[in-house]
Amino acid sequence: MAPQSTERWGSRLGFVLATAGSAIGLGNIWRFPSMAAANGGGGFVLIYVLIILLVGVPAMMAELALGRRGHSNPVDAFGDAQPGGRWQWAGVLAMVASGLILSYYSVVGGWVLAYLTRSLRGGLAGLDAVGLAAVFDAQVSEPGAAVWWHAVFMLLTFAVVAGGVKDGIERWSKVLMPGLVVLLLVLLLRVLTLEGAMAGAIWFLTPRWADVTWPVVIQATGQVFFSFGLGMGVLITYGSYLNRSEDIPRAAVYVAAADTGVALTAGLIVIPALFAFGLPVQGGPGLLFVTMPGLLARMPLGAVATFLFFLMVATAALTSSVSLLEVVVAVAGQRLRWPRLRTAAAAAAVLLVLGIPSALAQTERGWQIAGRDFLSAVDSLTSDLLLPVGGLLTILFVGWVWGAGPALAELRTGSRGFRTAPLWVFSVRLVIPAALGVILVTRLLGLG
Ligand code: PHE
Repeated sequence: MAPQSTERWGSRLGFVLATAGSAIGLGNIWRFPSMAAANGGGGFVLIYVLIILLVGVPAMMAELALGRRGHSNPVDAFGDAQPGGRWQWAGVLAMVASGLILSYYSVVGGWVLAYLTRSLRGGLAGLDAVGLAAVFDAQVSEPGAAVWWHAVFMLLTFAVVAGGVKDGIERWSKVLMPGLVVLLLVLLLRVLTLEGAMAGAIWFLTPRWADVTWPVVIQATGQVFFSFGLGMGVLITYGSYLNRSEDIPRAAVYVAAADTGVALTAGLIVIPALFAFGLPVQGGPGLLFVTMPGLLARMPLGAVATFLFFLMVATAALTSSVSLLEVVVAVAGQRLRWPRLRTAAAAAAVLLVLGIPSALAQTERGWQIAGRDFLSAVDSLTSDLLLPVGGLLTILFVGWVWGAGPALAELRTGSRGFRTAPLWVFSVRLVIPAALGVILVTRLLGLG
């Protein structure tokens, strides 16, 4: 039996906030709104919520239960539940994927920090779209700046993780997550009171069923996996710090509700703002770093709104990157028996270096892989391939190898009546593997 972790969350609220912090990230703010707007508005939202309930929540419960089972890191969680098998390689894959995601996530997080300080100094005020595009261009194409801000973001991530589960991750989540909600609500109010904003909100939420096609459903499923961090070892790791008295099914529902709530609220900020200023709906970095600051600056109290916006995005990104680093730290720390501080420093340093090609992706010397810049290539490798493979292996393991019976017993421990248990078994054994199988095949064939 591999060494167990002795670290535990201090409270249910702390655990839920930390896990919600992992789920709520850049994905909610720049991917969900544009995806929903482009793919059927309210129709997409309904499909998304359905996938959350049928696939996302049961898969989240499965990973949390697997983690709590032996209080072990993702690699040993597999190894302990099926000793002697090769399943621990599924954990290794998840850890590698987490590290790779963090390597470029930190680069984007760095851009956000750069914009945060810029907005504080008033450096974004009075610029039109062309001016803002030039600022963004300078930010990402200047090698020194790109690497510097990537390093600052990684350092912040390290600082939180080095504090430990309870005194680092949990404590910071308890501060940052309520802050995030307040910032979101302030921005929502600000945007929805703009002239013409309501039309955008209605457009965002009105179902356009013709736009909801099969590839859209597949994309929505991929977004649920990215947002929940499924198949990356994050939920196994956070689950391993849970006490047996914790009600996992209930906690999973809270986390899912928070994550979906923030995604929808972000949509209700971004889309109506675009409408109010008559701009086209598009996603990606352009939305975050060019369009949004341009819009926010044009509002009354624009400088404050811009600052609050980047503060919110930085907060969301940091609590996600923390969970990614914690996966690597959990595995490395327990395997090497190193103290947390040393493990976290070593892991952050390695990932900092690994992220440098992503930081340099948009510079003159940036590497290209298969016609994509390095950052997009790593993003695509992890989100389109490693994430569904990791998710599929994990769910097959829980449903069929560890077994739905023992997994269900773990879920029932600490839970006051898990009434949807039969549905959970059905989902974990059949629905989720089928959904992930379809995603993988379409991705590999280049259809979706
Ligand atoms: N869920 C985070 C987001 O939406 C990113 C993330 C992915 C975090 C995978 C953990 C694991 O931005």
